[in-house]
Amino acid sequence: MSDTNTQASTQASTQATTVMQRCDYLASFSDDAEVLFRPFLSPATQRLHGVLREYMQAAHMSVHCDALGNLIGRYVSPHPDAKTLLLGSHIDTVVNAGKYDGILGVLIGIAVVDALQDSAQDTAKSTALPFHVDVVALSEEEGVRFGVPFLGSLALSGQFDEALLELTDDQNVSVRQALTDFGCNTTPISNAAYHNGTYRNGTYRNALAYLEVHIEQGPYLETVNQPLGIVSHIAGQSRAHLTFHGEAGHAGTVPMHLRKDALAAAAEVVLEIERLAHSQDHLVATVGRIQAEPGAINVIAAAVSLTLDVRHPQDDMRLAAVQHLLDHAQQVCAKRHVQLDWQTLSEQAATPLEPELAESLQQLLPHAPTMISGAGHDAMVIAKTIPSALLFVRSPNGISHHPDETVLEPDVAAAIDAVCRFVGHLAETHSK
Ligand code: HGY
Ligand code: MN
Ligand code: MN
Repeated sequence: MSDTNTQASTQASTQATTVMQRCDYLASFSDDAEVLFRPFLSPATQRLHGVLREYMQAAHMSVHCDALGNLIGRYVSPHPDAKTLLLGSHIDTVVNAGKYDGILGVLIGIAVVDALQDSAQDTAKSTALPFHVDVVALSEEEGVRFGVPFLGSLALSGQFDEALLELTDDQNVSVRQALTDFGCNTTPISNAAYHNGTYRNGTYRNALAYLEVHIEQGPYLETVNQPLGIVSHIAGQSRAHLTFHGEAGHAGTVPMHLRKDALAAAAEVVLEIERLAHSQDHLVATVGRIQAEPGAINVIAAAVSLTLDVRHPQDDMRLAAVQHLLDHAQQVCAKRHVQLDWQTLSEQAATPLEPELAESLQQLLPHAPTMISGAGHDAMVIAKTIPSALLFVRSPNGISHHPDETVLEPDVAAAIDAVCRFVGHLAETHSK
């Protein structure tokens, strides 16, 4: 195992052991008996809130749940008008998820607040940071339940469009209803925002910065033998839902030249999606889900729906790729007498993270490489209104969104140590 680039303190090592144990334990909080799946505002999420609340309270934080189901632990500075440093990540997961995507960043945030207080007691140093620290367990990042990602961080950063409350899931439950069922008070959603309006019933709090620690979910840090990476910016992403409307028919009697085969049309488009992505550096495009109706072996498919995810570090390249795929799909459908419905679900611009914060991290972690994130993160949303930084932890084998996703305990210790030193550095450079 490579040397971690910082000799993580003994305390950070102890905290890392706790974080790893907690990741193991919280992986059992799933809405599926066979695999880890914890969608936005699900029953397993409710149970998870109960445990995270205990962890936050054990770290001497007050805890509340905001209008979008973000669970927030607050460590209060003695300076009443202090700003607030946000640490955290998301707690929802994809289907058949790994144990660390999102939740690791929340548990590291709690560990850092814990460590800051421990070290203060050890050194009889006041823990009087010149800012509050809020650990945020963001409710929805993956976009699995309602198709649109980042709902929790959109609310937290004052960017939530209330029309999103009307989105419905596969059971036709709206976001609004799901929030009410979860016990959230959704009026007004702007109460959740840090950057405007009152913060809960207290006085307004300016957010000083947001720092997210997240697994890399790719192979780069392993190839350069580094435990941590500093993200300079996050690739933009376009998500769409395509439906091909053809004509059902008897598989045995309809001649090939008379068919309006929705599945064959979709298949031709899927191959073009893959071909295009192979043809351009840094472009990735994925069809993660496809469904055919009526789905019978001896019936020509009447309708096929599929999801599209297109990403690139440069927005003009991404948008040009999406336009090309739309044009191509329309040509294929015209040729095959199939009708195309193309529904754009979300467009997330490529996002630079805060250079000043990245520079602070670089000073603390001189060996950590600077890198681009192909995966989307809450930091790309929050960065629109709050200075944000993203610190990656090595993903052995580059595996993620898969049960084999893992992290190395010494790397988690290095991340905890780095965030503790980052908070100390911020405290030195920021007055209250
Ligand atoms: O899709 C993503 O990039 C992230 O894992 N939600
Ligand atoms: Mn994910
Ligand atoms: Mn994630």
